[in-house]
Amino acid sequence: MNEEKKYRELEKEIKLLQKKLKRSEANRFQLQEIKDSNQSLLNKLFIDLEESSHTIKNQKEELETSNKELFELNQLKNKFLGMAAHDLRNPLGSIRGFSEILLEDAEDAMDEEQLKWLRIIYKTSNEMLSLLNELLDISVIESGKLDLKLKPGSLGELIDGRVQIYQKVAARKKIRFHTTFAEILQPLFDENRIDQVVDNLLSNAIKFSPLDTDIYISIEQEDGMAKVNVRDQGPGISEEDQPKLFGEFQKLSARPTANESSTGLGLSIVKKIIDAHKGEIWVKSTPGAGATFSFTLPLDK
Ligand SMILES: Nc1ncnc2c1ncn2[C@@H]1O[C@H](COP(=O)(O)OP(=O)(O)OP(=O)(O)O)[C@@H](O)[C@H]1O
Ligand SMILES: [Mg+2]
Repeated sequence: MNEEKKYRELEKEIKLLQKKLKRSEANRFQLQEIKDSNQSLLNKLFIDLEESSHTIKNQKEELETSNKELFELNQLKNKFLGMAAHDLRNPLGSIRGFSEILLEDAEDAMDEEQLKWLRIIYKTSNEMLSLLNELLDISVIESGKLDLKLKPGSLGELIDGRVQIYQKVAARKKIRFHTTFAEILQPLFDENRIDQVVDNLLSNAIKFSPLDTDIYISIEQEDGMAKVNVRDQGPGISEEDQPKLFGEFQKLSARPTANESSTGLGLSIVKKIIDAHKGEIWVKSTPGAGATFSFTLPLDK
């Protein structure tokens, strides 16, 4: 009896074990299936990756080629721009020069109508000449031929000289200049090019300001750099306009207040000149309350 009971229990255990074995076999089968499908997924992923890396490589090569083409085309555009501007300058200079001579004693020789046309010829040729000079500057700077003659010098003397030149134009609009120059170490700069920078900042301050206002120019030393500030009481520059300010052909919301000419190239040239000096230029402005343009130049250490 006891033996029989033992035998049945054993039989039960064997059946249980057989069941477990079956289940684990099924699990093993399922695991293998998962493993296989993972493997094929991995293979597919690998192929996809290889394909996209190939496409990226192709696209990179295409981009490099079109970049090179664009660079060459840009060089060609600069060369063409430079040649056209250069060749047009002489004949245009003659038109301006002769119309100026004619204007000198035209009042007795011409009637009002003829005088009006002559003044237009003089004014227009003058504007065209400054546009050509700006285009020539851009082509020189962009083709990397801006050859700076860096020398230590006095920024105060340079600015005084330019202020004197612009005093007459400013006086016509009842605009006054005020200068405050701190004692600073001499910066290194190319005199003609910084003349050009100061000219554009002064002419802008006059051009966009209303009559009977003040322009403040200061020089200081900050963080090992010479710093020049030109502050006006004009319309200022809106937040929206500020990022466009130093781009080419940007005539923004502020328009000349006395019919002065405006091509929108001045500040883009100014920025390139300051960059070439390893300085910085920026503007701070509360729209409606004037603008302050500042630029820095490295000191001669
Ligand atoms: N001081 C300023 N106050 C308000 N707006 C200004 C001032 N300076 C420049 N701007 C705005 O930025 C634009 C670009 O100035 P930028 O000097 O490049 O060109 P421009 O003076 O119009 O022409 P150009 O200098 O080529 O004769 C101007 O047309 C004007 O709208
Ligand atoms: Mg300007």
